[in-house]
Amino acid sequence: MKSWYERNKMDNNVIDKPVALVLGGTFPHRELISNLQQRGYHTVLVDYLEHSPAKEIADEHIRESTLDQETVLEIAQDRNASLVISACIDQANVTACFVGAKMGLPVPYSYETALSVTNKVLMKKKMVEHGIPTSKHIVVSDLSGFNSAEMRYPLIVKPSDSNSSKGVRKACDYDELSKYLEDALDISRNNQAIIEEYRVGREIGVDCFIKDKKATVIMTRERRKISSAGDTTQQIQGSLWPAELSEVDQSNLKEIAQRIAIAFELDNTPLMMQTIVSDNEASVIEFAARIGGGENYRIIKLHTDFDIINSAVDSFLGEPTILDHQLPTGLFADVYIYTHPGQFGEISGYEELLRNRTIEYFNVYKAHGATIGQELSSNNRVGAFLVGADDKNDVLAKIDTALASIEVHDIHGNPMMRKDIYIPDETIKAGRLV
Ligand SMILES: Nc1ncnc2c1ncn2[C@@H]1O[C@H](COP(=O)(O)OP(=O)(O)O)[C@@H](O)[C@H]1O
Ligand SMILES: [Mg+2]
Repeated sequence: MKSWYERNKMDNNVIDKPVALVLGGTFPHRELISNLQQRGYHTVLVDYLEHSPAKEIADEHIRESTLDQETVLEIAQDRNASLVISACIDQANVTACFVGAKMGLPVPYSYETALSVTNKVLMKKKMVEHGIPTSKHIVVSDLSGFNSAEMRYPLIVKPSDSNSSKGVRKACDYDELSKYLEDALDISRNNQAIIEEYRVGREIGVDCFIKDKKATVIMTRERRKISSAGDTTQQIQGSLWPAELSEVDQSNLKEIAQRIAIAFELDNTPLMMQTIVSDNEASVIEFAARIGGGENYRIIKLHTDFDIINSAVDSFLGEPTILDHQLPTGLFADVYIYTHPGQFGEISGYEELLRNRTIEYFNVYKAHGATIGQELSSNNRVGAFLVGADDKNDVLAKIDTALASIEVHDIHGNPMMRKDIYIPDETIKAGRLV
């Protein structure tokens, strides 16, 4: 097979700027690209999609997959790249570290470290070895060796190598376990799944930065799950930023971040953790040595004035990041909009909410005509909005007001928004849902 270079041979215009390859065209990578441009780089976006949010602001776009490490290496060599970077995509980070190490470019950590902080099996193994609190687990390809005496229901089943809660299910008995395991193995690329004990508590996300081997917590958030109502998916409706946490919880989380940094040899890098907090104890679900995707960087900037994208670039370049973040005051909540399956048309009812400051901003994720699938998953979200207030009651009241006005219409004008998912479990149980 011809190499990437032979297939794409072209006269490279002489570019008098250093070239940065940006892996993945997600929304936050727009900000990454402009940061790199301000630092004097010529930016080349690599993304296999023809259209992506970051494409229009990159200096160039090359349509290749960021998962294809060898091709990205060829592109980087061909373009004589000075930097290969991704800020908030797990697999692209691994590729960036692979290419960076091969070419002697600046990287935030080694390729081996990149693998151990993205592969759930390696991550869990190391957490257990280093005594970092995490649910008891086993790695399986079938249920032949499963001994129910050793694990306590409910259990969580998850593919070993996916993300965005794809294939992650809560199983309350053996039948559910075997059914969900089959799905998880189908999704997994290496036919491995993790079964672990379900941990009850509040789900807290923590954004940290590790500087000079010391962990600093920049921001916390509490994930608000979609009301179960017979549905076992682990999807969220949004988060509250920051999470309400006791001093003990805060110091536990900081201590865990510190221990992860030591165990995984992380320094001068962002670190985000997903934890479950209850009864003055915290347990780690998983973590990533990078910044979060989606709305994260915007909310962190709004709340703390900290430019977390800039810190990700510093991390790659090995430059010292200045931790000049403010403590958050007040509360923000981001809320995702989901729909019934169909063809997305448009969203109405939010302009007035923007005008009267009920909501801070509204993002539409889908284009007219996009097909929305059955599953409540992140790729089926059609939009998100943000509200802000001084206390939780005001935030929740603003969310209710917004949800009452917003509607999603399919291409024929019929309403398709899933309003049922925001109703708390207790309300459903009390039979108030008709
Ligand atoms: N052990 C657990 N206890 C409770 N909830 C869990 C557990 N493991 C996963 N979850 C829930 O499932 C979600 C997705 O699981 P996670 O391991 O983070 O996979 P993904 O890579 O898809 O994000 C978590 O955010 C959490 O809500
Ligand atoms: Mg996760």
